Amino acid sequence: MKRRGWMAAAAAAVMGLVVFAGSDGVSAQEDHSAAVKARMAQMQLNGFYMSQLAAIAKGQVAYDAAKATAIAGSLLALNTMDASAMWPPGSDNGALPGKTRAKAEIWTTFPAVMEKADALTTALEAMVVAAGTDLASLQSAFGPVGAGCGGCHRPFRAEKF
Ligand code: HEC
Repeated sequence: MKRRGWMAAAAAAVMGLVVFAGSDGVSAQEDHSAAVKARMAQMQLNGFYMSQLAAIAKGQVAYDAAKATAIAGSLLALNTMDASAMWPPGSDNGALPGKTRAKAEIWTTFPAVMEKADALTTALEAMVVAAGTDLASLQSAFGPVGAGCGGCHRPFRAEKF
């Protein structure tokens, strides 16, 4: 069984949206800005580490087994930590236009998004081994990792705003 750190609590999404009613009886929306900021930060780190790996794969940076392993391991850690609180129901781009690119399908088709998260984890586990082996192994493991990112972005991330 895969570690499902990414957004396990999004399961709450399928159990129904929690609405917080104020004392005046008017329901007020929860402020999700910290959660959205945190997940964007996590994704920016994904991008940062991926560009480091890409530079090695392309031969722009000299291959070094220890460094490559550290980068791959960091990516694996980043994608297996518990990020569930970063994806609260009601924080999709329909509810928060202009603030997030997360599509509502993350919650409405849950747990489909977890299969995408698991696919990336599997590719990263292979990358950790490959990165410590040699440059050719790192290069062949790179495609599946990139596909792991894109495989989730295509269905679940909206265009840039
Ligand atoms: C399981 C789904 C999933 C996986 C896997 C995934 N992402 Fe994302 N990514 C998203 C979603 C959803 C967003 C939009 C988040 C938002 O706007 O709230 C996003 C946003 C981003 C952003 C933009 C961040 C910002 O500041 O707006 C970058 C960069 C990014 N991802 C890079 C990556 C890289 C690189 C990988 C692979 C190592 C990756 N992602 C893997 C779902 C995923």
